[in-house]
Amino acid sequence: MEIKIQNLTKVFTNKKMTETVAVDHLDVTIPSGKLIGLLGPSGCGKSTTLYMISGLLKPTDGKIFFGDEDVTNVPPEDRGIGLVFQNYALYPHMTVQQNILFPLENLKVPRPEAMERAQKIADLVGIGELMNRKPVQLSGGQQQRVAIARALVKEPRVLLLDEPLSNLDARLRLQTREEIRRIQRETGITTIFVTHDQEEAMSISDEIILMDFGVMKQKGAPQEVYDNPTNLFSARFLGTPPINIFNGEISAGKIKLGKSNLGTTDVKSQNVVIGIRPEGFKVDPKGPLKVEVEFVETIGRDTTLLIIDPTDPTKRFRGIIDADYKVVAGDTIQLSVKPHKMFIFDPETGEKL
Ligand SMILES: Nc1ncnc2c1ncn2[C@@H]1O[C@H](COP(=O)(O)OP(=O)(O)OP(=O)(O)O)[C@@H](O)[C@H]1O
Ligand SMILES: [Mg+2]
Repeated sequence: MEIKIQNLTKVFTNKKMTETVAVDHLDVTIPSGKLIGLLGPSGCGKSTTLYMISGLLKPTDGKIFFGDEDVTNVPPEDRGIGLVFQNYALYPHMTVQQNILFPLENLKVPRPEAMERAQKIADLVGIGELMNRKPVQLSGGQQQRVAIARALVKEPRVLLLDEPLSNLDARLRLQTREEIRRIQRETGITTIFVTHDQEEAMSISDEIILMDFGVMKQKGAPQEVYDNPTNLFSARFLGTPPINIFNGEISAGKIKLGKSNLGTTDVKSQNVVIGIRPEGFKVDPKGPLKVEVEFVETIGRDTTLLIIDPTDPTKRFRGIIDADYKVVAGDTIQLSVKPHKMFIFDPETGEKL
């Protein structure tokens, strides 16, 4: 089920009549059958967008289509959606099994089939053994998995997940997100997965939509956005450790960081912001960047270097190099920069130049 969002806007007005634009003229099409990660910092409008898609919140402006159907004014229960929220309340007086069965009873699915579907989905999310417990007898993570099972069991046409894994411990979080991925692939349900965790979004999504202040900053396959950030916000939001940011200059087609010439460009002469991914440096005796290494950490095949910024000794940047290079703290080394790992941005607008 393709979801088309047109000019979607939500303005909240508080008692003092001050306005918050939570979602600002959002135009985006979510392809059918894909898992889309809706990603951005706290307060950027992810949940508000999801609530409008679900029908729980009414847009201030704009339209939402499921396929060709305009669902903007369709109530949530008639949209064919499955919802899981961060703190989604289960029915406390019902057992896990009754909670999962509940949507199927509403849909009048015959009992034996409903029981089978409920058990299958419960096993899938790892709560198959807990069917007779009440929610109060479950941990937060287990409750959340019941909520996921309950959303999935009715085989919705759209699955909306708002930070569904944030209550799980690290290992369960990883395992559950792989399960969500697998279930999504198997069922082909168009899924929107809200998270502020870039690593989670990148690992699970076919495409990510990156938001900031209610505005879509970039959309694309995770690796595509990582490899080609169209703006400074995208460049900074994706990647651990994060991209290194420098104040540089373009001078007669040369990318200059202080006195070092990092490469050539078509960009006209001006001050710029240079972003270089940590893995974008190479130890190179002929490299243009002569730097002092402050701290070295080798984990597995990678060595992470904390390096003193040659243009500003109060700043540090990170380089990740092959562990085969033996570097120790205090060394002065020379680096070259891989051109495809370096991006140049307008210091005013943050747009890529
Ligand atoms: N009911 C409301 N009344 C007023 N302002 C609201 C309301 N709900 C959300 N907002 C504001 O709208 C903006 C977007 O909120 P939203 O909950 O969509 O962010 P989010 O991206 O989901 O953040 P988080 O990652 O913290 O969950 C925020 O500035 C928030 O304070
Ligand atoms: Mg939220």
